[in-house]
Amino acid sequence: MLDAIPVIAIDGPSASGKGTVAQFVAERLGFHYLDSGALYRIVAWATHKKNIDWSNATAVAECAKTLVIRFSNNQVFLNNQDVTADIRTEKMGKGASEVAVHAPLRAALHDLQHSFHKFPGLVADGRDMGTVVFPNAQLKIFLTASAEVRAKRRYDQLVGKNESANYEKILLDLQERDARDKSRTSAPLIMADDAILLEADNLTIPQEIDLILKKYQGKMCK
Ligand code: C5P
Repeated sequence: MLDAIPVIAIDGPSASGKGTVAQFVAERLGFHYLDSGALYRIVAWATHKKNIDWSNATAVAECAKTLVIRFSNNQVFLNNQDVTADIRTEKMGKGASEVAVHAPLRAALHDLQHSFHKFPGLVADGRDMGTVVFPNAQLKIFLTASAEVRAKRRYDQLVGKNESANYEKILLDLQERDARDKSRTSAPLIMADDAILLEADNLTIPQEIDLILKKYQGKMCK
């Protein structure tokens, strides 16, 4: 029974730290990890390479069906090519949020996301993990922080990687991405009714991880 294999769904807006937190939680529990945002980024990158317009719902979804995607040791492979760095750019973040509005693409990625749901468990992060993809998840977290705190985190990350960064531009891009993710009709970014809200403005990453692990243990001991 798949429902017996636990899922922890961690959703929230861009740069809320979900990815880092989800990866650590998965590691601590020995669970599999799904970075669903990477899938939308890969589709943005692959369609861009093929000159497919991000607004073309049918062509984007058809292209996605042909992609062979593999995750291995924090690296992402598309058709056996390492695209880890290519998909992490700001441009592909924006592209991901543009292709992600298309219902046919979201449907095309459904089975791939479910293929990560394996014993002994899964930690999945994204925008619709708890609402659409894994509605029966044992624990749902909605991790958020103010746009300013998230923009500062993104800015520090880029500076840390010696990349050029402009705080004001990052903040504007984040706000634009939040607005698109929240207002789309297909699987918009909303908190599931049964999710726990975690506001990360005044929390460190280790504190967030501890809180999630405690909530999970609490649920499993009931
Ligand atoms: O999480 P990340 O920033 O990598 O996601 C990139 C974009 O992919 C998001 O802005 C969002 O539009 C889209 N996405 C989505 N559903 C998910 C994960 C990501 O629509 N489950």
